[in-house]
Amino acid sequence: MNHRLAFTFATAVVLASPGASAPAPATLKEAFADHFLMGAALHTPIIVEADHPARPLVRQHFGSITPANALKWGPFNPKPGVYEFEPVDTFVAFGEEHGLHIVGHTLFWHQQTPAWVFQDDAGQPISREALLKRMNERVRLLAGRYGSRIHLWDVVNETFEDDGSLRKSPFTRVLGEDFVPEAFRMAAEAFPADVQLIYNDYSMFMPGRRDAVLRMVRDLKARGIRIDGVGMQGHWGLDFPKIEDAEASIVAFAQAGMRVHITELDVEVLPRTPDMFGADLNKRAQLSAENNPYPDVFPAEMQEKLARRYAEIFALFVKHADKIDRVTFWGVTDADSWLNGWPVRGRTNHPLLFDRQNQPKPAYHAVIGTASGK
Ligand code: XIL
Repeated sequence: MNHRLAFTFATAVVLASPGASAPAPATLKEAFADHFLMGAALHTPIIVEADHPARPLVRQHFGSITPANALKWGPFNPKPGVYEFEPVDTFVAFGEEHGLHIVGHTLFWHQQTPAWVFQDDAGQPISREALLKRMNERVRLLAGRYGSRIHLWDVVNETFEDDGSLRKSPFTRVLGEDFVPEAFRMAAEAFPADVQLIYNDYSMFMPGRRDAVLRMVRDLKARGIRIDGVGMQGHWGLDFPKIEDAEASIVAFAQAGMRVHITELDVEVLPRTPDMFGADLNKRAQLSAENNPYPDVFPAEMQEKLARRYAEIFALFVKHADKIDRVTFWGVTDADSWLNGWPVRGRTNHPLLFDRQNQPKPAYHAVIGTASGK
């Protein structure tokens, strides 16, 4: 019996409780069908390798897909006039073939955007008009090529600091406070009306950032600029954030008229120093035996801890399912998680629901259990 058959058989045995009238759901997307979409971010190998071992999991379990890197300015448009269309075309075709909800990540982010975007031909900083023109060209090109086939865009990613101040970035250095409104204005003008436009950020449970996002939403509305929702990334840990703090943000964003998306969920299980919370890509630490404790086996007691944490997180999401459109994991299996490389390069991390053999972990079953409120 191969692994996949073994899993299907074992799951059927565990889930088929005697006397139950309806069979228990066998996949994530079936289990949460009445609550929200279940999504996964696809790193480029999963997009371009048709026989990638994680592909069957994507088809079975997820109703929404996000490209982890392929649409970011750098990977997509590394040099002026040079476009890497192929992975994105493949990604969109894959989504359409399987009837999936397709996310565009991300129009504007201070990371993974090439330096040339902010420079003129002489390598000098460009003017406000020139930067707005380049941003607009990017939006128009993507809207022209993909239109309504990409159903939702993260228009701006991570432009606030933990304390709610505007992040100093190549975008805000040139555009200041106008960065966000200009970005959303050009997106709303270029994309068809049925394409959802959201703001996305990490550590959204922090009061400073929560308030900044609420102010941003009010400001965009006051200017008559469309924003449909807020993406809470969800790079969380075994004991952060507090469920009440995440809940306060979900409720506050919904009260502000926003649809809530959980856009990049994973749960860190390896030790991190306090300055390494959040998802700031500039922060890095050295690999050591202490910060990489499970290079081979992820022990049973840790599997249980992770399962309990995922259960409490999903109980929160199910409680607020009327406000949440989608919950997307940042990766499919532990093998392709970005947390193997950040904030420490070369760790063996275990933050997702499927292990390195593409098998469901105890956390998977714990998550499924929350769908029916059990
Ligand atoms: C990560 C990708 O997963 C990595 O492959 C890449 O090297 C760096 O970016 N917040 C985001 C995502 O919005 O785009 C980041 O993705 C993870 C943090």
